[in-house]
Amino acid sequence: MQLVEWAESTAEQFLKDSLPRRWAHVQSVAGRAGRLVSHLGRDGEILHATAWLHDVGYAPPLAVTGFHPLDGAHYLQTVDVPARVVDLVALHSSAAAEASALDLDEEMAGFVDERTLTRDLLWFVDMTIGPDGQCMDFEARMDDVRARYVPDHYVIRALDAGMAERRAAMARASEWIDSVGIADQV
Ligand SMILES: [Fe+2]
Repeated sequence: MQLVEWAESTAEQFLKDSLPRRWAHVQSVAGRAGRLVSHLGRDGEILHATAWLHDVGYAPPLAVTGFHPLDGAHYLQTVDVPARVVDLVALHSSAAAEASALDLDEEMAGFVDERTLTRDLLWFVDMTIGPDGQCMDFEARMDDVRARYVPDHYVIRALDAGMAERRAAMARASEWIDSVGIADQV
C-alpha cells in the first residue's frame, strides 16, 4: 500500500469511531495538505501522509504518555514508515515547546526537527483548521485554544513558549503559498 493511502486508513482506524471530532479535524487538515502536494514535488507525499497521521497519538490504544505527538511518534516507530514521518509527527506545531512544559524534554530528545518547508506547511495546515474541521485563521485558532484553559495552565504556558516559532512557521508557509499563487485554492 502506498504511504498516503496507508496513513489515511490508519488514521481512520484509530480515530473515526473513538474520537469523531478529532477525526473531523484530521480529515480537514489532510484535505488542506492535499491541495498543496502537487506543488511540492516528492515532499508532497510526506506532507500528505503526516497530515493524516499527526494526531493519531490521541487514539486511546496509543495514548501511553498522554502527550499525543510523542505517543503518535512512538506508534509510528513500530511500523514501516520513513523516519521523517516519525519526526514530523513528534514535533508538529511546536510540540517541543509543549514537551518542555510537561518535562518531557528527555523523551523528545531523539526526534529531529527538520525545519523545512514541508515541516512549516504541516504546522500551517494544523494551525489553520479548527477542532471540528473548520477553516480558521491562525490567530483565531490560537485564541480558541487559549479560551479553553485557565491562564496558568501548562497548555497556555506551552502555547506561549512556542508562539514565536509557530508564527515564524506560519509566515514562511504563507509566503510560499503566495509565491506559488495558490492562496485562493487552499
Ligand atoms: Fe491537529
